[in-house]
Amino acid sequence: MKRIGVLTSGGDAPGMNAAIRAVTRTAIAAGFDVFGIRRGYAGLLAAELVPLDARAVGGIIERGGTTLGSARCPEFLTDEGRCAAVVSVESHRLDALVIIGGNGSQAGAYALSKLGVPVVGVASTIDNDLAGSEITIGVDTALNIALEAIDRLKTTAASHHRAFLVEVMGRHCGYLALMAGIAGGAEVVAIPEQPCEPEAIAQELKAAYERGKSHAIGVVAEGAKYRAADIAAHFREHHERIGFDLRVTALGHVQRGGAPGAFDRLLATRLGAGAVDALVRGRTGVLVGLLRGEVATTPLADVAGVTKPLDLRLMDLARVLAR
Ligand code: F6P
Repeated sequence: MKRIGVLTSGGDAPGMNAAIRAVTRTAIAAGFDVFGIRRGYAGLLAAELVPLDARAVGGIIERGGTTLGSARCPEFLTDEGRCAAVVSVESHRLDALVIIGGNGSQAGAYALSKLGVPVVGVASTIDNDLAGSEITIGVDTALNIALEAIDRLKTTAASHHRAFLVEVMGRHCGYLALMAGIAGGAEVVAIPEQPCEPEAIAQELKAAYERGKSHAIGVVAEGAKYRAADIAAHFREHHERIGFDLRVTALGHVQRGGAPGAFDRLLATRLGAGAVDALVRGRTGVLVGLLRGEVATTPLADVAGVTKPLDLRLMDLARVLAR
């Protein structure tokens, strides 16, 4: 195997650049030629390849986002698009692809592997919903950003005797919301895995008010049954049902931006190097992730389309801790 392509796909995640760097430098050390593919699968279809040497990936380990760019690529969801991707791989004489991304990206990687392309996935998404890795690249940084926001909101909330609903990302998965809620000391957490009504959230906030708290924080996952703004709208004229005056902050893409923390730089470096190690061993059609603290491979067939379950016992813990 001589020529490999590396791409980042789907939502960017802090640490993707560290993964690109690790793939490039370990692959060069293993004797491979490395090509970066810009804009994910869209760039693969449009043949946007750039040769990567060790210098090309200098100074990027500390940078957020992805220097290769990323894209959502509807064309790649079709059979025609995927066949065109295979043609692109062949015409550029790429012997394998390393695909850095989350659920949708790894489903695409699996589709390519079924069409005969040797691929290795690298687990990267802030949502932490990907099977085959206990934690994925970007989660820790995104979580810390959410926590910083919650900590800041608490000080202004306490000054005005207010409650805040803080909406965090995660797509259909409540991991970020639940962990931010526990680590941020939230009074209530709303996640898609345990749908709840606005009334139940209001009751928790009111109970915190009645326990004499100076403020209350509700963390709402963007995929929860009700968005934070809709919950707030429900009580707009009736803040007395919450006790506190209520405000909403949706963190949105702020959580995906900025420099990766140490954990994500190290995780991305280990997983990127693990992907090249898998290629050297001729192990393709796999996702490289972290299992029981070790870099491990899982067949893409066991990953594609599978959502990693959330440990819902932590919701009970969050409730107890909110006292
Ligand atoms: O998958 C990562 C993620 O940030 C999700 O948490 C969120 O739902 C989605 O991507 C947002 O996508 P986009 O950047 O395309 O708006």
